Amino acid sequence: MSPPRLEASIVLGIVRSLGPASAKVLSHLRMANKLATDLLGRFHERTIHPTRVRVLTDLVVNLARSAVAPAILDIGCGDGSLARATAARLGAGEVRGVDVKVRQQTQIPVECYDGRTLPFPSDRFDLVILSDVLHHAAEPGQILREAVRVLRPEGLVVVKDHFAFGPWSHLMLLAMDLVGNAPRGVLVRGRYFSGPEWIALVAASGGRATQLVWPLKVHQFPWHLLARNKYQFAMTLKR
Ligand SMILES: C[S@@+](CC[C@H](N)C(=O)[O-])C[C@H]1O[C@@H](n2cnc3c(N)ncnc32)[C@H](O)[C@@H]1O
Repeated sequence: MSPPRLEASIVLGIVRSLGPASAKVLSHLRMANKLATDLLGRFHERTIHPTRVRVLTDLVVNLARSAVAPAILDIGCGDGSLARATAARLGAGEVRGVDVKVRQQTQIPVECYDGRTLPFPSDRFDLVILSDVLHHAAEPGQILREAVRVLRPEGLVVVKDHFAFGPWSHLMLLAMDLVGNAPRGVLVRGRYFSGPEWIALVAASGGRATQLVWPLKVHQFPWHLLARNKYQFAMTLKR
């Protein structure tokens, strides 16, 4: 499926073909776009986001329950709320975040990095979180390899992401992705992986999958009708 940026460029092309009237149409379109994006952002922030963070915190804590006072790294941590809540529940000794785009307000210390190579030595963390990041990344395989590299021998990578089953699931996941991410300026690629593609990504990561949680209930009514439980999964990887 084409990334949303391409679709926007088609709309722009049509508007430009209107000639002199195009400047006015464009400015109205920009205002409407900003208003819709702001409203969506506020709506997501107040309704979907808090529930999602609560559900995902329970999930990560359950999967990582053997980790005692762990050093946690959250790759693509966004505002850091998931990592902060998880660290508090696990009594973490350290919690760090990295992202390709650091937000203005974050709940944990976040470092900007190039999206390829983590700025940490090998064998560094007990728990590495990758929550809804790999389908946004240019090189998901490279990030998964890096997540395994910085893991201590007994450590755990927790991946939360999507399973794609065909065009309909792509469309639904894209819709939810745009609602959740467009207001924050996160690039939505509209690229979701099937089961066999996930198996290939894990096989190339240097780690091995140890647990799978699927289907996974993340969203409440009515959002789970779009981002259905069977599109959501979590897995753990060890070295
Ligand atoms: C849907 S948000 C998820 C944020 C957070 N992990 C959560 O679950 O709430 C995706 C995040 O991945 C980040 N991202 C995109 N490409 C990345 C990459 N190559 N490496 C690390 N983070 C990346 C985005 O900037 C964004 O903050």
